Amino acid sequence: MSHASSRAAMTETATPAGAAGTARLGAPDWVRHERLIEWVRSIAELAQPDRIHWCDGSQQEYDRLCDQMVAAGTLRRLDPARRPGSFLALSDPDDVARVEDRTFICSEKREDAGPTNNWTDPAQMRATLSKLFDGCMRGRTMYVVPFSMGPLGSHISHLGIEITDSPYVAVSMRIMTRMGRAVYDLLGEDGGFVPAVHSVGRPLAAGEKDVPWPCNETKYIVHYPETREIWSFGSGYGGNALLGKKCFALRIASNMGRQAVQAGGIGWLAEHMLILGVTSPAGKKYHVAAAFPSACGKTNFAMLIPPRSFEGWKVTTIGDDIAWIKPHSDGRLYAINPEAGFFGVAPGTSEKTNPNCLASLRENTIFTNVALTDDGDVWWEGLSEPPAHLIDWQGRDWTPADGKAGRKAAHPNSRFTVSAAQCPSIDPHWDSVEGVPIDAFIFGGRRSTTVPLVTEARDWVEGVYMAATMGSETTAAQAGATGVVRRDPFAMLPFCGYHMGDYFAHWLDLGHRLQAGGAKLPRIYCVNWFRTDENGKFVWPGFGENMRVLKWMIDRIEGVGGGVEHVFGTTPRYEDLNWNGLEFGSAAYDKITSIDRAAWREEFALHAELFGRLADRLPHSLQATKERFEQRLESGA
Ligand code: OXD
Ligand code: MN
Repeated sequence: MSHASSRAAMTETATPAGAAGTARLGAPDWVRHERLIEWVRSIAELAQPDRIHWCDGSQQEYDRLCDQMVAAGTLRRLDPARRPGSFLALSDPDDVARVEDRTFICSEKREDAGPTNNWTDPAQMRATLSKLFDGCMRGRTMYVVPFSMGPLGSHISHLGIEITDSPYVAVSMRIMTRMGRAVYDLLGEDGGFVPAVHSVGRPLAAGEKDVPWPCNETKYIVHYPETREIWSFGSGYGGNALLGKKCFALRIASNMGRQAVQAGGIGWLAEHMLILGVTSPAGKKYHVAAAFPSACGKTNFAMLIPPRSFEGWKVTTIGDDIAWIKPHSDGRLYAINPEAGFFGVAPGTSEKTNPNCLASLRENTIFTNVALTDDGDVWWEGLSEPPAHLIDWQGRDWTPADGKAGRKAAHPNSRFTVSAAQCPSIDPHWDSVEGVPIDAFIFGGRRSTTVPLVTEARDWVEGVYMAATMGSETTAAQAGATGVVRRDPFAMLPFCGYHMGDYFAHWLDLGHRLQAGGAKLPRIYCVNWFRTDENGKFVWPGFGENMRVLKWMIDRIEGVGGGVEHVFGTTPRYEDLNWNGLEFGSAAYDKITSIDRAAWREEFALHAELFGRLADRLPHSLQATKERFEQRLESGA
């Protein structure tokens, strides 16, 4: 479409501030939801934007907003031959990551948020936010962004509307969600949606020139679980601002899944999990959902390429970060990826570590905080040998000598935003309204010692115990000391929108309810790719070789996989894994599967610490499981 006609589209849907009082606020006629218009009006009256733009999700709208951001200096267009349709954004150096210490779960009662979340009384928080939002969009356009988390019309999906004063957020939401006009068709005149309000918190005075990345040093990421509202102030970055992702799809949705039980249903799960399809040479397809904390190779596992010796096996990607999982009438759990794009960490991504991911980024990608090459392309640590000269993520000159001196060219949390449809391994059913039936759950952390390569839980309760007590060592990408084991139950520590003890109970109860209805539950596995040898080197090759572990899980599901039972469950013996095409001896295998009794005594002390924090709502069966495991450990059983 030509520029002239895309400008015409703008005037159709953009309302000047003076018209904010008119009946429909300039809403196009495909918005038929009066309550929604009233809500937009209330936010406009509070935040006082200069204009309102009702996003339709079209390519023209996307292109026009990107052009506008290029003109404003927020985006830089990358070389059209090297990286077609792609842009680079450099954020404010103080706005580079999720702000967990500024993230709040404002439930009516403090105890419902639990000890792992920040809490403030909702009335008090509303008063604080009202002040901050008062006039905070002056001089800016307010975008009304309709989105579906999950395939349009799926019974597992839910709808949201994000109001934002950031065009970067509006275009990113078009990549990360099903965003646009079709959402209003689903909403009709009175459909339910999660309202999400976002502001960068940087109003402009009359005639004031904007900065490329507006934000505010005061930041609040707030969730009201009872009323299912999200309010975010002060940041334009990632999970702080793209409110469909962590805020809606995990913190609010985890509440929704549990509230569904309180409303008399069976309940559902919103999890920090990738979803994979695995097809055997015989054409039988399995699906697994896997939870890993950040920096544990989650994207690589989501896009795994089986080793050559696994000819005929195929791994396909359904999701890389979040899964919504609901019981189906056939008694099985079905999962969808509520997102439509990947917002992944760039550093470390290379042809060797993740060729599928790299291929996904060839075009139509928004990069944030990576380095710019002299020929208008992007670079990050781990991609290749460093070029002789770059512009780093803060816009400064950079040479390999700076790298040697410890200055990174790309921020460690620099990101790509890209449509999932561009991924070569995307599953043909990734957008299916049915979702995919889950055969196994996998939980994994980064542990240099103690935790074996893979363990199959004996039953649902023991599996929930393993997931609940999962720990992971902190890495250089996180603040604080490295190598410290942090408990990250279900990889949900920063994302569970209610009391973690209640969350464990929800998992246990869902399992009981499904079993009572005669369902066969997915198996639960715990993995650890990260055990090291006496020189601190990883023993397990990881990446595509993880296929060997996946294959063993499938053998177990089919009832043909061997193994040895130990304290926590079943681990394959050396001869139970397929070693074709890999030289990996049994001595090395022992190193990554052995169970060190002294280390496990210490591990249980850490579990006790976690359980102590959650004591007021810890399900009794988890405490009982711990005692049983400890007895087994001591008796050598
Ligand atoms: C993410 C995270 O960005 O988990 O996905 O931090
Ligand atoms: Mn994540």
